[in-house]
Amino acid sequence: MKLADNKATLSFSNGTPSIDLPVYHGSVGPDVVDIRKLYAQTGMFTYDPGFLSTAATQSAITYIDGDKGELLYRGYPIEQLATSCDFMETCHLLLYGNLPNAVQKKDFSSLVTNHTMVHEQMQFFLRGFRRDAHPMAIMTGLVGALSAFYHDSTDINNAEHREISAIRLIAKMPTLVAMAYKYTIGQPYMYPKNSLSYSGNFLHMMFANPCEEYKVNPVLERALDRIFILHADHEQNASTSTVRLCGSSGTNPFAAIAAGVACLWGPAHGGANEAALNMLGDIQKNGGVEKIGDFIKQVKDKNSGVKLMGFGHRVYKNYDPRAKLMQETCKEVLQEMGLEKDPLFKLAMALEKIALEDDYFVSRKLYPNVDFYSGIVQRAIGIPVPLFTAIFALARTVGWIAQLNEMIGDPEYKIGRPRQLFTGAVPRDVKPLAQR
Ligand code: CMC
Repeated sequence: MKLADNKATLSFSNGTPSIDLPVYHGSVGPDVVDIRKLYAQTGMFTYDPGFLSTAATQSAITYIDGDKGELLYRGYPIEQLATSCDFMETCHLLLYGNLPNAVQKKDFSSLVTNHTMVHEQMQFFLRGFRRDAHPMAIMTGLVGALSAFYHDSTDINNAEHREISAIRLIAKMPTLVAMAYKYTIGQPYMYPKNSLSYSGNFLHMMFANPCEEYKVNPVLERALDRIFILHADHEQNASTSTVRLCGSSGTNPFAAIAAGVACLWGPAHGGANEAALNMLGDIQKNGGVEKIGDFIKQVKDKNSGVKLMGFGHRVYKNYDPRAKLMQETCKEVLQEMGLEKDPLFKLAMALEKIALEDDYFVSRKLYPNVDFYSGIVQRAIGIPVPLFTAIFALARTVGWIAQLNEMIGDPEYKIGRPRQLFTGAVPRDVKPLAQR
């Protein structure tokens, strides 16, 4: 970051002397006012619950222009990455800062492939879960448990440990997600097949069984690969900030990523794809396209507590570029599966059209986000609804690790410790029990 020529001056109406605060430029996007010395100079904190105006870090990984609807990984537009690269190239880009050449791509892919198996003991660990456990509950446990199985890669201050834990996490997430699925349906786990691509192998572990040959469908393989690319990173969102904050204590990478998985689970974040599909299913059950008007009325009624899931975003105040790419993939997958007339897809398109013309959504700049269509694609691939967020976690793992490693390499890195505006009781004495 570069010091700007101008400064910010903070003045107070009660006669407290004003102070100057440095301003920094990034390479693109809004400048920041450096308030680190504010408390020392004034005894005051800033107040910004929800981080509406606070840059919690500097980062060189992902850039979003929410007004333009632009998403860049290391400077490359998401549209170009989604159409010209695969997920392994995207992982290399996010982790190391550059797109691999052919040799680097081959080496990186084979490195990841060589770590796809998990410790055999993990399947016994998995048996501790109820068969009807939510996959995200299982994933939170399994990812955290990796730190109990891979003791040789838990020191975040050791660059080799960081590298090997990064590769292990990227390589093993598909295996763990597929194991969580197979466990809940009572089928045998399928070992990874290293002759397949990253997404082909995931389809194999999910849908193959030991009794029959399984052939990976290239259209579904490419669709899944695109889902992974689109979800790979998204700068300082809630789960990424959770990973950074958790990792800032010096905890091991597996524990920090498990914290990210837990955060992602919520319906305002990664859980939105599951919630969006359930919402479409409910509208369909209650009358389908004909009843969209009633549903929109409910969404607009603040007291109903109903939201249009898959719509709106803290940063995008324009069409989420990932939603456009996902809509394209949705059409391809539905066609491949002979589901062109899928009623939920039709419903989603109709709902989107109506919402985009409605003043409530237009005035609030609410547009479809990536989750509006990703559920329909995943369902068409055969992925069960409760597993959607686990797929998101699988894809986001590389972003979480890239951000965690960037933080650890940042000379300004400190343990994260937000402050507060205290509004509770002032000091008082504890009365004996009989007098309370
Ligand atoms: N349906 C109806 N109204 C909405 C919606 C929605 N989906 N999203 C925002 N609003 C309204 C909100 O009620 C508020 O209205 P008002 O100004 O009258 O009070 C206004 O729009 C601004 O919303 P906000 O809640 O202040 O915005 P936020 O930045 O805090 O929330 C959000 C962002 C993503 C949590 C929210 O839009 C939402 O809950 N969307 C539905 C869930 C969803 O699709 N999440 C996936 C996000 S993309 C994937 C990911 O990153 O995980």
